[in-house]
Amino acid sequence: MRPATVADAKAIAHLSRDLIETGLGWSWTPERVTRAIQDRNTLTVIACERDRVVAFAIMFFGDEHAHLSLLAVQPSHQRQGLGRQMMAWMMDAISVAGVATVHLELRTSNYTARRFYRALGFTETAYIPGYYRGREMALRMVKALRDPAAPLPVWNPPKIH
Ligand SMILES: CC(C)(COP(=O)(O)OP(=O)(O)OC[C@H]1O[C@@H](n2cnc3c(N)ncnc32)[C@H](O)[C@@H]1OP(=O)(O)O)[C@@H](O)C(=O)NCCC(=O)NCCS
Repeated sequence: MRPATVADAKAIAHLSRDLIETGLGWSWTPERVTRAIQDRNTLTVIACERDRVVAFAIMFFGDEHAHLSLLAVQPSHQRQGLGRQMMAWMMDAISVAGVATVHLELRTSNYTARRFYRALGFTETAYIPGYYRGREMALRMVKALRDPAAPLPVWNPPKIH
């Protein structure tokens, strides 16, 4: 498992097209994935078997909130803990960044992913009709990591003499 580079963009885009965007067109093209990999506020993580990308996750970091844009594991590698491990990586980065909540949307009919996110402590919060190109309803799921109103911890680095 490692952070993605631009060279991985094509493989990630193909996984998104085949495993996530099925029937919705292809919005996460190699160009869009490249922009995400190059974006300083976005973390893209992949899992590889030898040189082949078998799983990936893309998360956008704001000041208070993070948004999981995409996450997928090749069917041949599902149910082996890869999704959980990629989310653990993201959650570590999130707690370092001091983010309060993580949001994501998924197809309401994606019961496997709903079970997966619930197992990771996410809560189903809202239905969003027509979210996917006006054609399909999304379900929003959220996980709180700290109270958004709570003050951020302050760290005063020791003086170096
Ligand atoms: C959802 C997805 C990412 C899960 O990845 P994964 O690597 O297979 O999941 P893990 O092996 O880490 O599973 C973690 C937990 O999630 C739950 N879970 C995952 N898949 C499940 C399934 N098919 N049925 C029931 N529970 C499941 C279980 O609680 C599991 O823990 P356990 O194996 O100890 O019981 C994967 O199925 C996938 O890529 N689906 C297609 C793309 C997609 O739908 N992405 C999400 C929307 S963006």
